[in-house]
Amino acid sequence: MAIQFDDRNLHADMVGRGNGITRAEIQRSTSKALKALKSFQKLSDDRVYGFAHLPFQTAAIGAIRKFASAVRGTFDTVCVVGIGGSALGAWALDCGMRGPHPVQGAFTAQHPRLVILDNVDPEFTSAALASMDPHTTLVVVIAKSGGTAETVSTFLLVREWMNQALGAQAASRIVAVTTEGKGDLFALAQSEGYKTFGIPENVGGRFSVLSPVGLVPAALTGIDIGKLTRGAAEMTRLAWQPDLATNVALRAALCHWLVWTRKAKPIQVAFPYANRLWGTAFWFRQLWAESLGKARNRKGEAIHTGQTPIAALGTTDQHSQVQLYIEGPNDKVFTFWAVKRFSSEGKLPKALLGLAAFDALAGQSLARLIDAERRATAAALTECGRPNCTVTLDRVDEYHLGAFLQMMEFQTAFLGELLDINAFDQEGVELGKKLTFGLMGRQGYEQYRDRFAAYEKKRAGE
Ligand code: PA5
Repeated sequence: MAIQFDDRNLHADMVGRGNGITRAEIQRSTSKALKALKSFQKLSDDRVYGFAHLPFQTAAIGAIRKFASAVRGTFDTVCVVGIGGSALGAWALDCGMRGPHPVQGAFTAQHPRLVILDNVDPEFTSAALASMDPHTTLVVVIAKSGGTAETVSTFLLVREWMNQALGAQAASRIVAVTTEGKGDLFALAQSEGYKTFGIPENVGGRFSVLSPVGLVPAALTGIDIGKLTRGAAEMTRLAWQPDLATNVALRAALCHWLVWTRKAKPIQVAFPYANRLWGTAFWFRQLWAESLGKARNRKGEAIHTGQTPIAALGTTDQHSQVQLYIEGPNDKVFTFWAVKRFSSEGKLPKALLGLAAFDALAGQSLARLIDAERRATAAALTECGRPNCTVTLDRVDEYHLGAFLQMMEFQTAFLGELLDINAFDQEGVELGKKLTFGLMGRQGYEQYRDRFAAYEKKRAGE
């Protein structure tokens, strides 16, 4: 597998005993890691959690590819309406494979762009709608629950916008990705005749990038989802190996668990050195935060655990964050995401200008510089006793990106087992959602409207 995990700078001999782990600690905890692997494997085999099976669902993948090739050439924009796990995977794939905005280039029917309407910021939404043409847009509305306030409200606007322009034809330009047979979005899709793709019940939002949630927008924008899922399948096979040398996801989970819980590092900085991985860093932030931030363990004991994820971009954030990382509180662990080969090297002209700063770099390349900067930053952090590790992708293509996303999901699931928490629920976000529905006057949510009123009274000191 062309993804490597280098944990050398997490070790005590590199960053000191107070900050780094020892081989003995890893050895002592290996049986715990293998137990975590087994218990998660059982949950996966019993189909309690489904993300590990997604790369092998050839019928579902084939159906998406067939649909994408049938409609190809009829649109120049794919508009995703969704939020959280129903949007971030599509962004990670789009940014990874087609490049970050604003450098994706002109969009055409052969090279459609992806517009993601996640936030309910009214200015953002109306500007996005104004930037698209309903006649050349394919809408993909995504919600596992089928009733998320942001998605539902934005979709009301988008549906109206499509209906006004296309009349009865609008329905044929809308695709719904939701739980089959359940929820209000599915009901609407049935009554209006939208093409639908089902999200497996045992796949939660933040683990759904390789389900139709991520694959439908990806295939529609021309990403090779066959290669993507092949990379993920290969990583899945590795992730079931009871061996820390080959199972990079398990090894990374164990190292992070040890550094976080034994060396008091409550913050995790995901530090890609490639703009194409920037979308993935935001996808990862959700995965790590929602999966590992929990009030209780499986025994029901209050633990209030979690490791706060930060997304930083190399080299850009060297000029913004690294001062804090090197000299501020030693409460972070850093994971560099390195890329061995870029598709273009950025060769620098050889011409000498007789000026030291310029001449030192003449004839070299941006690829060499970004690599040097990452290694130099890792060395500087290490010298200052800041534990860090590196995940290296040979290149950012579909195969490696699929493998990397799957590695991160396995790492998160294993860490959940090590912490003895349920990494797959998100009860903490439910109260805010219910209070919002109460405030917006939804039927059945009157108790939350009253609860909010009581909170306001308290704030007013009444
Ligand atoms: O990971 C999760 O489950 C959440 O972040 C959801 O993806 C998010 O709340 C959106 O939910 P839905 O797909 O039901 O609209």
